[in-house]
Amino acid sequence: MPTDRVTTAYLAAEGFESQLREELGRAGVAVSTEHGRLLLSDGPAHEVAWAANIWRDCLELPVASIGTAAKALRDVQRNWAMYAPLHHRRAALIQERLPHVSAKPVVFPTAAPAAPLGSWTLLAPDRMLAAASCSSPFPNGEVELVEDKVGPPSRAYLKLWEALVRLRRWPQPGERCLDLGACPGGWTWVLARLGANVVAVDKAPLDPKVAAMPGVEWRGESAFGLDPASVGPVDWLFSDVICYPARLLRLVERWRAAGLVRNFVCTIKFQGETDHETAAAFARLPGARVLHLHYNKHELTFMLDFSEGR
Ligand SMILES: C[S@@+](CC[C@H](N)C(=O)[O-])C[C@H]1O[C@@H](n2cnc3c(N)ncnc32)[C@H](O)[C@@H]1O
Repeated sequence: MPTDRVTTAYLAAEGFESQLREELGRAGVAVSTEHGRLLLSDGPAHEVAWAANIWRDCLELPVASIGTAAKALRDVQRNWAMYAPLHHRRAALIQERLPHVSAKPVVFPTAAPAAPLGSWTLLAPDRMLAAASCSSPFPNGEVELVEDKVGPPSRAYLKLWEALVRLRRWPQPGERCLDLGACPGGWTWVLARLGANVVAVDKAPLDPKVAAMPGVEWRGESAFGLDPASVGPVDWLFSDVICYPARLLRLVERWRAAGLVRNFVCTIKFQGETDHETAAAFARLPGARVLHLHYNKHELTFMLDFSEGR
């Protein structure tokens, strides 16, 4: 029988453990124990950005044997992802007895799986922690995308693909997109390939192959000087501009106030210290999600979707 202690576990994105600890500290979440990159806490889940995955309503279960442990998990639900920083061999034997969960690389455009995916770990050889409900639809928050090594002029397209996979929506043919900080054109390439019309804004020019794609218009201006009224309504505003987070927040607020944008997908980039305060201000915008994606570096992805059924 499970014990009744409810715990939340936050799995730090690899290399960003200190950012997660800082963010949890600022949110007043006390971490009782660390288990590899997993930070354990009593109390309800906080939607923190630097967690690759958040394990909600964790259960501690005894592990009398490999077979009974696997059965206990199967009795809860079908799909489970293992996190095994310790006792790896024993954990792998349990995972082998669970139904197979596809970890095939994702071909864009594909929506993230909607089936619940739980997470579990061996805290000790005779004790496991399991959560049926997790924030990420991917095992340990990690998704592998099938790359295109020919088309895009930079690797930045991967984090946009991942954001749209997580959003489970992407621009449709004929929709109007604004791509701020577009050069050399990885994001514009993604959007133009989807059949969208793209206004790409950057002082630097686009890669000529991207500039020549149908539906692409380049404007050699600063994203911050751009008057929303001169652009008009857009279905999507994208930004991958390198700038201080507070400057990006002011830009987003300006465009929100103009009421001309239906969806935002923006990278919040950090130089040196992580500006947690501004990241939290992004997360407080109604309907916002702020995530550290698998393909993000020292940056977060802000997504805001005004459509119904969010
Ligand atoms: C990380 S790169 C963008 C990569 C792009 N998303 C891609 O997929 O290829 C950041 C870009 O921001 C641009 N940038 C910096 N300040 C800007 C500003 N004030 N207005 C517009 N673009 C700016 C830089 O010129 C640079 O091309």
